[in-house]
Amino acid sequence: MKACVAGASGGIGQPLSLLLKACPLIDELALYDVVNTPGVAADLSHISTPAIVTGYLPKDDGMKQAFAGCDIVVIPAGIPRKPGMTRDDLFKINAGIVRDLIKGVAESCPKAYILIISNPVNSTVPIAAEVLKQAGVFDPKKLFGVTTLDVVRAETFVAGITGEKSPSKTTIPVIGGHSGETIVPLFSQAKPSVNIPAEKLDALVNRVQFGGDEVVKAKDGAGSATLSMAYAGFRFAEKVIKAAKGEKGIVEPSYVYLPGVSGGDSIHKTTGCDFFSVPIELGPSGAEKAIDVVSSANEHEKKLLEACYSGLKGNITKGVEFVANGP
Ligand code: NAD
Ligand code: LMR
Repeated sequence: MKACVAGASGGIGQPLSLLLKACPLIDELALYDVVNTPGVAADLSHISTPAIVTGYLPKDDGMKQAFAGCDIVVIPAGIPRKPGMTRDDLFKINAGIVRDLIKGVAESCPKAYILIISNPVNSTVPIAAEVLKQAGVFDPKKLFGVTTLDVVRAETFVAGITGEKSPSKTTIPVIGGHSGETIVPLFSQAKPSVNIPAEKLDALVNRVQFGGDEVVKAKDGAGSATLSMAYAGFRFAEKVIKAAKGEKGIVEPSYVYLPGVSGGDSIHKTTGCDFFSVPIELGPSGAEKAIDVVSSANEHEKKLLEACYSGLKGNITKGVEFVANGP
């Protein structure tokens, strides 16, 4: 199992690479970035776990070497928010970064599972899909927008109310996209069920939707969530790898191209969104099944979903048009 982190020297990239290096399921770990990868790779390579770590810069065809033969590519490359910015404000710079990295993936490891962290995820995943389509190698089952941090936040914030001592033991579908109102937590479908007092529900939903802003504000100009994102990105990557190796019954929400995933058509019909995060059953081929939690949302959640659909459709179109028409 060869994994590559593109953007490996960054705030997310370094701790994510550390977690991947510590994972015994990985044999080779390639680190790609426009700066500092030789140092990060040398540092990680002293850890006594099996993965062989290599670092690449753009010179000497570094991207090609980093991606060659990869089974999984995780992409946290790109600029993060500062206070006052929306994720969409990152589009101008990050759209081109993701486009160019995906061109590299299409060329060097077209069969890899691709996990996109770079924001705005609502648009960068459609950009990736369009680039892969143009290269004739788009497999919708292998392209994932990483929305796990929203799930992790929902688990944490609910536990803050219910007093649950093991927050991640509660499964909470968080669906839609990955920004503000496009993030829709479905607490009515938590397993085991949770009892949220009515007067606390709106604030809880809002905290999950705008949890990213909480961190951006606290970091005060020094970036956005990095450590919690590395945890979330690793959690999702490890599930993809375990499913690839044959483990059954692994389900985690992710932002996927609905018409390309089994079970996605009916969700596509309900939402009208080509890309949408829903719980995904993972397997060796990647996203084996999209699970419809949308139609069983309660009335309050359906209202949240209406607000999600319109914003998300605009973000998706923006990504698709960027590849079709250029910046
Ligand atoms: P950062 O600035 O600390 O790191 C980004 C890294 O990307 C840097 O090391 C930079 O050199 C590298 N980079 C820039 N251009 C590159 C290119 N063309 N090829 C390879 N590497 C390149 O930022 P960060 O805090 O790590 O955040 C990275 C991205 O992740 C941001 O867009 C941020 O908004 C996003 N993010 C997403 C989620 C999520 O839930 N999906 C959560 C947190 C952050
Ligand atoms: C998050 O949710 O923390 C990330 O998307 C980063 C951000 O810009 O908020």
